[in-house]
Amino acid sequence: MIVIGSDHGGLNLKSALKSYLARRGFEVNDAGTNNSDSVDYPDFGLKVAETVSSGTADKGILICGTGIGMSIAANKVSGIRAALVTDVFMARMAKEHNNANILVLGGRVLDEQKACDLVGAWLDATFEGGRHQNRLDKISEIEKKYCK
Ligand code: RB5
Repeated sequence: MIVIGSDHGGLNLKSALKSYLARRGFEVNDAGTNNSDSVDYPDFGLKVAETVSSGTADKGILICGTGIGMSIAANKVSGIRAALVTDVFMARMAKEHNNANILVLGGRVLDEQKACDLVGAWLDATFEGGRHQNRLDKISEIEKKYCK
């Protein structure tokens, strides 16, 4: 299951991505927001990050205006590797090298087609493990040291 969330700046892209994911047969849990009222992105970043961190969802997608705020917020949650991407190469690498469990996009940066291409590249890629796992283990050590 994929959990998806946005603030008002990512609302339109969230709708487009929900349709794309449904067409591809994924089960999607929409964590909001659900209207264009101005909201605070950390509230939705936290919701999605906790859903992934707890194992309730395998992976998540977050969208705000630029993607910057959502990525900062989500990466504060233990076990989260949230990657803000703007092109297909970055989206693929986010899985192959970083095993990102949340993909972050900018609703005011990308058009719908590009956003679907990025999500598709991330979903279709495979984590390579090996030396990349060693590096992720080092990130986990940083988390243990500073996230009490
Ligand atoms: C909201 O106006 C905007 O700041 C937010 O969507 C996001 O871009 C923050 O990083």
